Amino acid sequence: MLVLGIESSCDETGIALFSDKVGLIDHKVNSQIDLFKEYGGVIPEIAARDHSNKIIKILNKVLKENDVTIDQIDLIAYTAGPGLIGSLMVGETVAKTISKVKNIEIIPIHHLEGHILAPGIENRSLKPPYLCLLVSGGHTQIIDCDDYGQYSILGETIDDACGEAFDKVGKLLNLEYPGGPKVAQLAKSGNSERFNFPRALTQKRNLDFSFSGLKTAVLYELENLNLTDYADVAASFQAAVIDVLVKKLSWALETKDYKKLICSGGVAANEMLRIKLDQLAKNTKVQVYYPSLELCTDNAAMIAYAGYIRKSKKLKKYDVEFSRPRWPLGELYA
Ligand code: KG4
Ligand code: ZN
Repeated sequence: MLVLGIESSCDETGIALFSDKVGLIDHKVNSQIDLFKEYGGVIPEIAARDHSNKIIKILNKVLKENDVTIDQIDLIAYTAGPGLIGSLMVGETVAKTISKVKNIEIIPIHHLEGHILAPGIENRSLKPPYLCLLVSGGHTQIIDCDDYGQYSILGETIDDACGEAFDKVGKLLNLEYPGGPKVAQLAKSGNSERFNFPRALTQKRNLDFSFSGLKTAVLYELENLNLTDYADVAASFQAAVIDVLVKKLSWALETKDYKKLICSGGVAANEMLRIKLDQLAKNTKVQVYYPSLELCTDNAAMIAYAGYIRKSKKLKKYDVEFSRPRWPLGELYA
């Protein structure tokens, strides 16, 4: 089975080829980050236009470089949501057009299912059940993945997403968008114990997150500081975020006899988070898995892989003609 994956939910245009025999054949991502540096965030209209300018070129490049023709494709998997509506429509239009013209089966994929399954792309023996920490620019969730297609949210953010908090603090520290990787880099030379930033919702056993107060605490602290203090702020902020993520995960791990933990989404690229999760895994005797760095952030490989999984496991197909996917994931494919 040869699967074409298409991702265009936010500011990355992704195209991938996945086959059941060889696994991931190729994937390419065009990031729009450079377009949004001057704005400090994504502008939906610009994102959609850039997707429509680039998507066919990327598709042709992937096909050509891998000596594949459209007629060899057995299944098209595309991101149906959640995401920016204009951006999603570009990928969906390309997917549906190829499907109609070439009579190829098509499968809509929930973007977050892509992230949840991403660690399995390079590690095909990795299968649910597992606990998933999904940390991206738009989401922060602890998800119980009982089986393919069976996901329950145990906890999630009630305000900012974890990556969003990194990006907002990056802005406060005068770092370029997206702030996440830059804050992490700056934190390396800082003292993470200098500022005791708030660890919200950790007084009681609760698996939800709140990061907006943390961002405000950073804002107030900065009023009395100089540029030379910024590395300490970055390190202390990062430590507060990771402390909360690890604490909540340790509670979540106690709710069931988990053997595996996975962490995915853009923030899973964070080195310090990985170090702390490795420690947690060691202490709680679970195996921890991450996608490689390039598959942590948005890409079409995870969408193609999710399409392959849904098709091969004969999971119910969701018809997105009239409605958009929404949480919980169970409802999306019901
Ligand atoms: O999964 P993703 O590519 O897009 C969404 O679906 O949101 O995640 C992007 C997010 C951004 O907020 C970015 O700042 C954050 O992931 N990020 C990081 C790191 N690399 C990317 N945050 C912290 N540390 C990093 N190393
Ligand atoms: Zn994402």
